[in-house]
Amino acid sequence: MKKDFLAVADYSPAELQGLLDLAVRLKKERMSGGNAPVLKGKVLGMVFQKPSLRTRVSFDMGMRHLGGDALYLSPNEVGLGQRESIADVARVLSGYVDAIMARVFDHDHILQLAKWASVPIINGLSDYNHPCQAMADALTIIEEFGSLKGLNITYIGDGNNVAVSLMHIAVKLGANFTIANPEDYDIIPAAVDVAKKFASDSGSKLSFLRDPHQAVKDAHVIYTDTWTSMGQEAESKKRELVFPPYQVNDRLVSEARKDVIILHCLPAHRGQEITDAIADGSHSRLFPQAHNRLHAQKAVLVHLMQ
Ligand code: CP
Ligand code: NVA
Repeated sequence: MKKDFLAVADYSPAELQGLLDLAVRLKKERMSGGNAPVLKGKVLGMVFQKPSLRTRVSFDMGMRHLGGDALYLSPNEVGLGQRESIADVARVLSGYVDAIMARVFDHDHILQLAKWASVPIINGLSDYNHPCQAMADALTIIEEFGSLKGLNITYIGDGNNVAVSLMHIAVKLGANFTIANPEDYDIIPAAVDVAKKFASDSGSKLSFLRDPHQAVKDAHVIYTDTWTSMGQEAESKKRELVFPPYQVNDRLVSEARKDVIILHCLPAHRGQEITDAIADGSHSRLFPQAHNRLHAQKAVLVHLMQ
């Protein structure tokens, strides 16, 4: 049966750990001369309904490092579900490329691609989750603390797609996960229900708070993301009124552990969810985290395509 990478929730803790171990190995290999061309002759099709810097470039370069190639397909070209049905796009592309990475608005479109394609589908972000980001986040945390086990990971801000995948990988790998977000911006209940099950398996603790100051107490990791995700632009003015108490700034970071690290999936809206001082300060791991997209995704590519 073909494999997909649609959600970290679909992978067992051992499988996730295996992918992260592979990412560490591929990163070391890359830093000391280069990766073996294990995906020689293979092509990744990359379908984007939304803009991207990190996802697009890291997947493209990842394929090249592994001896393969990648093909960028812009929103206008493919018109997923508009110019052509998703089922037809999936079946046509399956005859041309060896795997498809897609960034979509509606998570159901990822599920439909996975249903109809005969090649692996990788979720490059949907309105529900962002599993490739979570793999890079976990890799960055492992590089800092050795593992996620027993760490306190705190997310401050909107209960969005990035928060869902971070919560799932955190509790799958034994970290405690806390989120502080304003009312009406909670993580969707279905994702929380799944997380509760994973947390009871791993012994992790989940906390859903309103107060960011309470949330960062004892945090090893503070994570934030944009207040307005792609596709929500019409709400941005309203959100800018609600979210300022959730800014990650000097005061908030000073209330966490002394060795706390700051993560953000980027792009950052400096002066909104994060200040320049924190994004560029000594606790920040924003750029190693962005670079780890490359290494974490190479592990996913090898797992699915080799
Ligand atoms: N973090 C992330 O997915 O960045 P891009 O939107 O630039 O791909
Ligand atoms: N939550 C953000 C993440 C961007 C990488 C969005 O969906 O726009």
